[in-house]
Amino acid sequence: MLLPLPEGDGPREVVAPDGRRFAVFPVDGGHHVTDALCPHNAGPLVEGRIRHGRVHCPWHWYAFDLETGACRTAAQYRLGVYPVVEHEGRPHADVGEKPAARSWAERLRAHARGEG
Ligand code: FES
Repeated sequence: MLLPLPEGDGPREVVAPDGRRFAVFPVDGGHHVTDALCPHNAGPLVEGRIRHGRVHCPWHWYAFDLETGACRTAAQYRLGVYPVVEHEGRPHADVGEKPAARSWAERLRAHARGEG
């Protein structure tokens, strides 16, 4: 799924037609697109600070690399990051399709494997 990116200078949140929320960070003339909510405790990342290619969550200051989503504060957390592509002359985020819902058992097994 391609989402058109909003115009403007500051971080913005965009909502996909399927309900998923994403954060858009304009940086150095380009854009970075991530999940809107922090994987630690669902802090609103658009309210965070951008420094040295990382977004710092406003709630507990965990830092996430905008290129890879890796957490520099606690390695077990990873932020979803999405490529930006040109489509019909405008930048869009390629956010893929909404993942299928998982059962609690599947979630617990994934958590035990450290997959979130
Ligand atoms: S909710 Fe983001 S660091 Fe805790």
